[in-house]
Amino acid sequence: MTDQAHVTESGDPGTPDIPGKPTSASRTTLSHIMTHNDTNLLGTVHGGVIMKLVDDAAGAVAGRHSGGPAVTASMDEMVFLEPVRVGDLVHVKAQVNWTGRTSMEVGVRVLAERWNESTAATQVGSAYLVFAAVDADGKPRVVPPVAPESERDKRRYQEAQIRRTHRLARREAIRELRARRIADGIVD
Ligand SMILES: CC(C)(COP(=O)(O)OP(=O)(O)OC[C@H]1O[C@@H](n2cnc3c(N)ncnc32)[C@H](O)[C@@H]1OP(=O)(O)O)[C@@H](O)C(=O)NCCC(=O)NCCS
Repeated sequence: MTDQAHVTESGDPGTPDIPGKPTSASRTTLSHIMTHNDTNLLGTVHGGVIMKLVDDAAGAVAGRHSGGPAVTASMDEMVFLEPVRVGDLVHVKAQVNWTGRTSMEVGVRVLAERWNESTAATQVGSAYLVFAAVDADGKPRVVPPVAPESERDKRRYQEAQIRRTHRLARREAIRELRARRIADGIVD
């Protein structure tokens, strides 16, 4: 796909009047050395510290891609694979996987370079976040479609569509269940 490509395979209404942006245009890495301030009671790095870095990196990507402010709408499938320790150099790599009309899924991988080992960086976590681009009033605004470049980008796009379908279906199913319970006069 080119810089000007439009994504038509999503099945979503899309944004035909806005040129596409390649994945590489907004891909970002945020790096941070972990300190004693970042630890939990076990002495390893607190999961919330990693989640903040994930949200920061994903937010930077969403802002870059959409060309303006974007807010976190959801974060899911946050996975912690291995503990991170004080002194480790953590790299948080984020990219836009998929775009809808006003929202973007950002995929994030977290890697750690161990301070006391001369080995390659280890993957220690990953997450998927949905950001909504917003205008000055905080209302959703249209985003450029992402144009996946590599085969890996294309796979991530397709997988993101599956997650999007599941998120919407889950939200709808829960809404229906709650409406049914209210209609049946059940109070909880
Ligand atoms: C996210 C927010 C802008 C959505 O506003 P809204 O009035 O519900 O608008 P919409 O329903 O049109 O949603 C906008 C887009 O976000 C998506 N979206 C909204 N909530 C979502 C959720 N929970 N999960 C996934 N996507 C979501 C919608 O599908 C839509 O995407 P699309 O246009 O590509 O189809 C609004 O809920 C908000 O401002 N939330 C607070 C954000 C914030 O403060 N984040 C920081 C947390 S500390």
